Amino acid sequence: MTQTQDPAARAIELREQIDLHNHRYYVLDEPSIPDAEYDRLFNELRAIEEASPDLITPDSPTQRVGGAPLSAFGTVTHEVPMLSLGNAFDEQSMRDFDRRVREGLDLPAGDLFEAGQDVEYCCEPKLDGLAVSLLYENGQLVRGATRGDGSTGEDISGNVRTIRNVPLKLRGQGWPTLLEVRGEVFISKAGFEALNDRAREAGTKTFANPRNAAAGSLRQLDPSITRSRPLEFCCYGIGQVDGDLPDTQVGILHSLRDWGLSISRELKLAVGVDQCLDYYRDIGERRAALGYEIDGVVFKVNQLAYQRELGFRAREPRWAIAHKFPAMEEITELLDVEFQVGRTGAVTPVARLRPVQVAGVTVSNASLHNMDEVKRLGLMIGDSVIIRRAGDVIPQVMQVVAERRPADAKPVDIPQQCPVCGADVERTQLVKRTRGRETVSEGAVYRCVGRLTCQAQLKQAIIHFVSRRALDIDGLGEKIVEQLVNTGLVSSPADLYLLTYEQVIALEGFAEISSKNLLGAIQDCKEPTLARFIYALGIPDVGEETAKLLARSLGSLARISQALPEVLVYLPDVGAEVAHEIHAFFAEEHNQTVIGQLLERGIQLQEEGDLSPDLAASITLAEFITRLEIPGVAKTGAERLTASFNTLQAIMDADWLELKTVARFTEKAQSGLREYFADSARREHVLRIEQQLKDFGMHWDSPRAAQSEGMPLSGQTWVLTGTLETFSRDVAKEHLESLGAKVAGSVSAKTHCVVAGPGAGSKLAKAEQLSVPVLDEQGLLKLLVKHGVTL
Ligand code: IVH
Repeated sequence: MTQTQDPAARAIELREQIDLHNHRYYVLDEPSIPDAEYDRLFNELRAIEEASPDLITPDSPTQRVGGAPLSAFGTVTHEVPMLSLGNAFDEQSMRDFDRRVREGLDLPAGDLFEAGQDVEYCCEPKLDGLAVSLLYENGQLVRGATRGDGSTGEDISGNVRTIRNVPLKLRGQGWPTLLEVRGEVFISKAGFEALNDRAREAGTKTFANPRNAAAGSLRQLDPSITRSRPLEFCCYGIGQVDGDLPDTQVGILHSLRDWGLSISRELKLAVGVDQCLDYYRDIGERRAALGYEIDGVVFKVNQLAYQRELGFRAREPRWAIAHKFPAMEEITELLDVEFQVGRTGAVTPVARLRPVQVAGVTVSNASLHNMDEVKRLGLMIGDSVIIRRAGDVIPQVMQVVAERRPADAKPVDIPQQCPVCGADVERTQLVKRTRGRETVSEGAVYRCVGRLTCQAQLKQAIIHFVSRRALDIDGLGEKIVEQLVNTGLVSSPADLYLLTYEQVIALEGFAEISSKNLLGAIQDCKEPTLARFIYALGIPDVGEETAKLLARSLGSLARISQALPEVLVYLPDVGAEVAHEIHAFFAEEHNQTVIGQLLERGIQLQEEGDLSPDLAASITLAEFITRLEIPGVAKTGAERLTASFNTLQAIMDADWLELKTVARFTEKAQSGLREYFADSARREHVLRIEQQLKDFGMHWDSPRAAQSEGMPLSGQTWVLTGTLETFSRDVAKEHLESLGAKVAGSVSAKTHCVVAGPGAGSKLAKAEQLSVPVLDEQGLLKLLVKHGVTL
């Protein structure tokens, strides 16, 4: 790239490049340079403009900030009114529309003997956002406006300038001197999720759907807020024009695309109404997979001459129609909230609704996820609620219609007892998780404590145990599990292996062959891999991936079931909560019994074996100490400790005197450490963790520990200064050396400790300056005695 030195020329060059990259990125979705390179171009342009503000142009990419906040929007008169569309909800209405078009154009209608003349239609999805008009004068964006009532709208020029795929300047050539582009401003599904994630993290209100989010973002008086929202623009037509344009709808859209505007990627030309209906079906099938929400498709007569001939009726064009998809949202009444008990005992609320048709399906239940969601929605029984069905997803309660709340609305209370087995329902506050720099509370879960004595949990546990990704027992469907549990034949997964032919054939729907097949299938699945078996146990929070990880890392059921939570957290991706769940599961007596029975009744685990070599020796002593979260001892403190003491035992045994000799180990850390290990139960527990890490082969390799066995001060450099009374400095030196220390003549940052007697001068000053620990003679004596030196 040749760089023009003249700033004015360089600014023009940069603007061209940046516009091109913006177009590639936001319109074509084909970025051609890395973000960093783009940022460099952008910053260079900004720097030129800052140095010479007279070089700034209104269409410069740096001017995508919409200006200062407004106190109110101005009004805009639409020279060409912004109209709405007539709707068709079924095939017949579409055929009627096509017939009206052909009659209006005097085209042969076609009858039993003769095919009619087909009309060309421009087909596009009907985006669910807001209609917006953009006015370009001589290729420059000069105004943006909302539709308003169709005749007058609001001036949102500042806001539209912040939308990334709206060109501030048209590309190419041939555009009319005055061109009003019309289209939809919307937020993609992904943009909507990200926006709501951000709102949740910031603790602010979330948006109910992408349309509301787009509307709320566009109607901001402060364009910098609009700028922070993931708005996009897609154009579908034109308004005022002064100049030439192609003579078809599709032709115009292609020109708009060439001038840098985004048009729908789904744009198609259909010939005749049957192709329109095919298009409707095709888009309908792909609706869920599209990156944005649509509520139908729009058909427009393609020939502009025909459009003019057909004209308008009231406020709708006779040449266009919206073929709508069935509504995804409906309003209905919340009759009750019931509680379901899942496999892990989680008690979750389910909305029972007055049945309502949503997109052709009767909906009478909707998911409420958890009690936090009930609270967030502010839901009460009797409320009118907006429910939404998206594709095959379970319907969701989106919103309460507050103004319709009846006087006798009742609060939603979590039951104290399990609705299935009557055992207590326990509330567990989920541990706060950190996401980025923020701490997010994950709320509470409610669990029935009945475990496998609760029929709901038992059924789910067995369904999970036999499922395809677990033990994969063929032919043991939900209905059969239900019978096995209800008849009392099975009260744990291990009981499956005791079933007899007589018992099975007595069940409803079983005959000779089917009974034999079922028993055969149960016997066939007796040699699962360790990973499948762990997954099949249904440990809360342990999905297939975690099960595989446990199997791969620890290699045997024995190790997995005995692993302490503090050891499990060393496995990649296992956090404190999951570690706790795994440990608690195996610690429970009932689970131990069931596992024991499974093994006794013939389950033979495959792939049991060694520890993963990746894991072995992956832990350093400093890491281990850091993870203990000893008050005052963070990572660097732990590193300093381990540099002085090579073993956990030595660290636990260290007295205040030895701790004092640890370089730059603060007093707070010293007392934190001593208090932490003052508790003997704690010491034992920590030693157990260490032992288990060693047993599992995950223990740190400690080359230094090997070298310094019996040499408590090895690797340390000491300095003696001033006069000593008990012995000469030479004797003191010998004692220190007998413990492995090196004794040097001068103090440096590497000095471990200085022993200072009366009369000490510059060496003591230097030690203080470098924060090197200092001991007096008494301190030295105690240390020597402690390490068994006879004086
Ligand atoms: S054409 C005279 N095409 O639907 C033609 N509208 O119900 C006017 N819309 O206000 C609009 N996608 O906000 C047209 N491909 C599309 C559309 C579309 C969404 C919206 C637009 C309009 C409303 C009409």
